[in-house]
Amino acid sequence: MKVLGIESSCDECSAAVVEDGRRVLSNLVLSQVDLHKPWYGVVPEIASRQHIEWIRGVVEDALAEAGTGIADLDGVAVTRRPGLIGSLLVGLSFAKGFAWARGLPLVGVDHILAHLYAPHLVRDIDYPYLGLLVSGGHTIIARVERWDAIEVLGTTIDDACGEAFDKVAKHHGMGFPGGVVIDRLAQSGDPDAFRFPKPKLWKGDARYDVSYSGLKTAVIHQLDQFWNGKAERSLANIAASFQRTAIDILVDRVVRAAADTGLRRVVAGGGVAANSRLRSCLAAEPGLEVIFPPLALCTDNAAMVAGLGWRLLRDGKTSGLDLNAEARVSMFKRKYP
Ligand code: KG4
Ligand code: ZN
Repeated sequence: MKVLGIESSCDECSAAVVEDGRRVLSNLVLSQVDLHKPWYGVVPEIASRQHIEWIRGVVEDALAEAGTGIADLDGVAVTRRPGLIGSLLVGLSFAKGFAWARGLPLVGVDHILAHLYAPHLVRDIDYPYLGLLVSGGHTIIARVERWDAIEVLGTTIDDACGEAFDKVAKHHGMGFPGGVVIDRLAQSGDPDAFRFPKPKLWKGDARYDVSYSGLKTAVIHQLDQFWNGKAERSLANIAASFQRTAIDILVDRVVRAAADTGLRRVVAGGGVAANSRLRSCLAAEPGLEVIFPPLALCTDNAAMVAGLGWRLLRDGKTSGLDLNAEARVSMFKRKYP
């Protein structure tokens, strides 16, 4: 079965053709990084307008690179939520029109579940496992039962981890996207130069939760307070110290959740899963089997959408043309009583 995947939830305009949920025949990702760089963040209106310009071409190119004609396709999978509403609507509307015109089944895919599916594109992974989804909009630790069934154990009570990387980089003028430049700068920095605070969320429902607003405030407004008094106050040292704390917070929660649930297999996904420190720290944890997607499949891409779409199509979970986009999904956000 060949599935066309379409992803436009944020600032990447991507189309892919994947066979049987595994063989990636093409996976084109057009990045809008240069368009958003002057603002150190994604400007939603610019993102959706650019998707409109690119969507048709990227789909045509993905089909051509895969050597696949439209008549060879068995379905169309598209990200429907969560994300920037204008951006989502471009991909979703295109996918609906395409599927309708060609009489193909349509399947709407959840972006979070698609990120968790990404490593399944390259190897077999048995369920259940502990999922760590870390992106610009979400930070989730979940028990993953199947490709379409997860139980959220912990999430952020304020900012997402990737968002903290982006905001710190923006404030200190390090560049964009924040995670990529901080990871690079940190390689030459001293992670002990600043001793930033970690959130203390140890109790009840919050046991696996994370928080990044305190760390963000410390790195942006209270640098001197956390300086060790010896190291240079350079960007590389700020980046290394921030990254160390941001990643320690994640590793701590994953280790705790693995111990409590007995789930020793950990599967990571999302843009922050590309972080070199997260990858090395988790790999060094004794007793855990840690699986990361290849770097190109960590950040947004349509192959993961086509892969998960194949699973859903096989389960008969197709969507109607009344399928709508949703910016937020309540199950992925912390609910307050
Ligand atoms: O999954 P993704 O491409 O888009 C969303 O669904 O949000 O994730 C983007 C996020 C951004 O916040 C970016 O700064 C972060 O992933 N990121 C990284 C790295 N590469 C990208 N964060 C830390 N280290 C990296 N190497
Ligand atoms: Zn994403």
